Amino acid sequence: MEASSDRSQPVSQPPLYDLIILGASGFTGKYVIREALKFLNVPSSPLKSLALAGRNPTKLAQTLKWASHPDHPPPIPILTAETADPASLHHLCSQSKLILNCVGPFRLHGEPVVAACAETGCDYLDICGEPEFMERMEVKYHEKAMDTGSLVISACGFDSVPAELGWMFNSKQWVGPAAPNQIEAYLSLESEKRIVGNFGTYESAVLGVANAEQLVELRRSRPKRARPAIPGPFPPKGPIIDHQKEIGLWAVKLPSADSVVVRRTLATLTENPRGLPGLNESLEQIKKREAFWSTVKPAHFGVKLSSKTLLGIFRFIAVGMFIGLLGSNAIGRWLLLKFPSFFSLGWFRKKGPSEDEVGECFIQDVVCWTRLQ
Ligand SMILES: NC(=O)c1ccc[n+]([C@@H]2O[C@H](COP(=O)([O-])OP(=O)(O)OC[C@H]3O[C@@H](n4cnc5c(N)ncnc54)[C@H](OP(=O)(O)O)[C@@H]3O)[C@@H](O)[C@H]2O)c1
Repeated sequence: MEASSDRSQPVSQPPLYDLIILGASGFTGKYVIREALKFLNVPSSPLKSLALAGRNPTKLAQTLKWASHPDHPPPIPILTAETADPASLHHLCSQSKLILNCVGPFRLHGEPVVAACAETGCDYLDICGEPEFMERMEVKYHEKAMDTGSLVISACGFDSVPAELGWMFNSKQWVGPAAPNQIEAYLSLESEKRIVGNFGTYESAVLGVANAEQLVELRRSRPKRARPAIPGPFPPKGPIIDHQKEIGLWAVKLPSADSVVVRRTLATLTENPRGLPGLNESLEQIKKREAFWSTVKPAHFGVKLSSKTLLGIFRFIAVGMFIGLLGSNAIGRWLLLKFPSFFSLGWFRKKGPSEDEVGECFIQDVVCWTRLQ
């Protein structure tokens, strides 16, 4: 969703905060606070004022203490907001230029936050990895966001950003007449300790599988988007499991939100080859935008989950099969969500990874390509 009209501020006062982090007490939220503090009031940073928001002020205060350690917690306001209470969200949005939403699963909690931002003109970012939520929000709130000048950007979490930047960087390296045909990202997680994910991500994945049909229906109900003109034939399907000797990884295709994010950008770029115009762009900004997007080339894009060992790949497949088979019925879902550690073979647990486990985990996103003959 892109802001293109004049921002009609419903409140006469300028917003109090540059940024409010919503859901700041969660597993991801606490790391977002820690990063935000590094930029708060640093001379070169535009982040001059910050507030934290969520439904439990005590927990938020404890999280701020954790994120500030070993320093004393800075005097950052803590605001109460609950996604089931639209008035609290409106109040939040009227106080900030930007809301960074870390409350998930987004299909359960995200829509009221997008709605409040679109209605008030506040900008919105999230860490969502749920294609159906992103596409539904665009359908429902694009017009409103255009009217109020709210910029709504989803999928700003870890894996979507490197995937999209990797595709753009890779595609810009090609100098005519050579052009890319297929770009593949190999996502691998390595650790000296156990690799453990938080329950929030697992729950979002399970609910995504459970509601896969809704995404299909949503797409069917929408006009077809432009298809990019990718030179060369459609790439062959290839094996289910592949071994890339050059990067030392075994890999299996991952039906991930990252591929969807890149495909949506490609469709938007096909419809707007010079990029989407921003709000009140200067001549220099227009030139820069057009110069940048004209060098990004379309390609078939996919993501593969990778491991140094073939056994690691079989574990991914087993977890995928559990979620795929059990996620589509109510009893199966109950089992998956009740026993996350069992059904994810230890990769996800209710209380999430320890700080040590997070510190040791190394996530690698390698982008490979196939040259067009
Ligand atoms: N794209 C990525 O790279 C990436 C990475 C990590 C996570 N994620 C996504 O981010 C989401 C959150 O994951 P997580 O692991 O951080 O989950 P989490 O630890 O369960 O945190 C959820 C946060 O939302 C808050 N919350 C829940 N319901 C709320 C409500 N009704 N009103 C206000 N706040 C509410 C919780 O507050 P309390 O503390 O009061 O319970 C908590 O602060 C998931 O959808 C996950 O898939 C994406």
